[in-house]
Amino acid sequence: DCDTFKYYVDGEWRRSCSGHSVTINNPSTRKPLFKVQACTQEEVNRCIDSAKTAQKIWAKTPLWKRAEALHKVATILKEQKAPIADCLVKEVAKTSKDAVVEVVRSGDLVAYAAEEGIRILAEGKFLVSDPFPGNDRNKYCLSSKIPLGVVLAIPPFNYPVNLAVSKMAPALIAGNAVVLKPPTQGAVACLHMIHTFHLAGFPKGLISAVTGKGSDIGDYLTTHPGINCISFTGGCDTGIAISKKAGMIPLQMELGGKDSCIVLEDADLELAATNIIKGGFSYSGQRCTAVKVVLAMECIADALVCKINAKLCKLTVGMPEDDCDITPVISDTSANFIEGLVQDARCKGARFHQEWRREGNLIWPILIDFVRPDMRIAWEEPFGPILPVIRIKTVEEGIHHCNANNFALQGCVFTKSFDKAMMISDAMESGTIQINSAPGRGPDHFPFQGLRDSGVGSQGITNSINMMCKTKTTVMNFP
Ligand code: G3P
Repeated sequence: DCDTFKYYVDGEWRRSCSGHSVTINNPSTRKPLFKVQACTQEEVNRCIDSAKTAQKIWAKTPLWKRAEALHKVATILKEQKAPIADCLVKEVAKTSKDAVVEVVRSGDLVAYAAEEGIRILAEGKFLVSDPFPGNDRNKYCLSSKIPLGVVLAIPPFNYPVNLAVSKMAPALIAGNAVVLKPPTQGAVACLHMIHTFHLAGFPKGLISAVTGKGSDIGDYLTTHPGINCISFTGGCDTGIAISKKAGMIPLQMELGGKDSCIVLEDADLELAATNIIKGGFSYSGQRCTAVKVVLAMECIADALVCKINAKLCKLTVGMPEDDCDITPVISDTSANFIEGLVQDARCKGARFHQEWRREGNLIWPILIDFVRPDMRIAWEEPFGPILPVIRIKTVEEGIHHCNANNFALQGCVFTKSFDKAMMISDAMESGTIQINSAPGRGPDHFPFQGLRDSGVGSQGITNSINMMCKTKTTVMNFP
């Protein structure tokens, strides 16, 4: 029998009155691992009502006290890194090493958000009226940032803790309340993380974590009139659906990516290959910012592929508890989808450098060469350990491929020429272009955003704090 975890509301852990639960499977064993409460719409209402009440007081709590509370969370999170990381290993098949890194990074993010909030929110603006034509100096305008209200945070399975706190900490320092809807896989790690806020003494009702089936409470939450902002990271289709249904509230969305890696003829091929392996295969390719297509100039493609292959052969494949490089993907559905992309590429004549091998959700890494634009893998996001290589005759061909995709999260270019790097970075229409490094979010105060279907708004600690506030002005009028 699996442990059943309670949801969090009003500063307490409670059982849902639905009497139902949602099962979380271990992706490695494909067996049930934990259960979480299948909350009802009435329970969602309760979370939001309590958040509204608590937020009013929190917004008036001095900024230094809000920061102090977040610093406590940062400390407790780091102290609790082992049990939280253990959940991540079991729930989302993240390696033990990477799971600990995720929790520690989360602690650092919370502490940084506390400090950045102090810097940002300490500042207001003062304007006088007479610079604008027709005005005398008879009006003084004071503006400052005030919170939005209740922020709905929806993180994905691949960073359930880190991408939850990347939404929660900016929201809280800015004076907002938070309702967290954890992903099913990763929900228990999320609940454990929420407990660190409980231990840090956050006011009752200010933070809640409501678990359940997306079909029961997903739309209800995202269209709820009590929600004043949604910060979502996850699939593109879900993100677009939320955007269409959400009311007139600020949205922050990080959706999929098909990050292109352009390798020029003058690139340091060893550096490129190392980054392609790290970027393409870390966490088995299940990162929005993974390298998802290599666009290699024909003249260096053989040499590059040879280097990538040599490194790929050294990747260890196995269980997350053993810190293997490649671990099982999140679900059968995901593994089947990846298999479909591979079959399509094989039927259409791509060259495989490794044999297809799958045991349950564990997929052995593959480099798929001579990929052409008529293959699905040229455009779709596998979220798995398979990497396509497209050989290009010109840089323009590579830029065109990058820009023709609906996804536009990040991209990268490898070259020794600074001029070419800047020219290509400018031409690649993606949220971030990395020069001579694999795509990646962070450091976590850097702006992080997707263009086109890859997202709405910009994240990173600073941008998130600013986005989770609105401007309030007071105008003093003199006779
Ligand atoms: O897939 C989620 C995205 O935010 C990736 O983060 O740190 O792996 O680049 P990171």
